[in-house]
Amino acid sequence: MIRDLQRTTWTVRPMTEEAARTVVAWRYEPPYDFYNLADNPEVLAELLDGSYEAAWDAEGDVAAFFCTGLAAQVPDGFRVGAYDNLDGVVVDLGLGMRPDLTGRGLGQLFIEDVMGIFRDQHLGAWIRLTVAAHNERAFRLYRRMGFAAERQFESHGVTFYTMRRALTAPPAPPADQEGDSSQHQQRSPEP
Ligand SMILES: CC(C)(COP(=O)(O)OP(=O)(O)OC[C@H]1O[C@@H](n2cnc3c(N)ncnc32)[C@H](O)[C@@H]1OP(=O)(O)O)[C@@H](O)C(=O)NCCC(=O)NCCS
Repeated sequence: MIRDLQRTTWTVRPMTEEAARTVVAWRYEPPYDFYNLADNPEVLAELLDGSYEAAWDAEGDVAAFFCTGLAAQVPDGFRVGAYDNLDGVVVDLGLGMRPDLTGRGLGQLFIEDVMGIFRDQHLGAWIRLTVAAHNERAFRLYRRMGFAAERQFESHGVTFYTMRRALTAPPAPPADQEGDSSQHQQRSPEP
């Protein structure tokens, strides 16, 4: 059953074992099955290592999760300096919404809420995502939210991009530059 999810109805807390077992059972339709997690002890342990949080909806079901730090990075990116930054300045974010909630415009609300949490915790000045080039849905959303592609690298035959934006809202353009969105399109690749 597809349910509505209002931004005020989810509660973010550290990942629990029950929530982790729920998340590893989520199955995305192709081409997003790339994001299906394996249901094994190693993955469950990672989900519970302190770097993951979950968001519960009003019915008490897990609606989404996010992670930060190493858990949000693809190790092969280090080879090309994709994660070079001053510690504490850039916060890496990884995330996933429950399959039935995807494709409905809810990702932006979730990411905005997560960015609000990061701002409250003074986690950094920039936020960075690592996205597979074939994930057109995520690319469109991140570009729309002002993320710009930074570095490209390959990992196990998959092309990835890091994308970054300021954690604070991008300043509104002066009135005489309205309609000029080039500042957010620089170096953005076509997935
Ligand atoms: C990535 C994610 C957060 C995006 O949030 P979302 O709410 O599903 O995205 P939206 O519904 O706002 O769609 C974003 C854009 O992609 C388009 N889109 C939606 N479904 C699509 C599809 N199957 N194929 C291509 N584009 C699609 C939308 O029309 C929208 O385009 P627009 O900006 O021009 O309006 C969410 O889908 C998710 O968690 N996916 C599962 C795992 C994943 O991909 N994680 C990201 C790792 S970086």
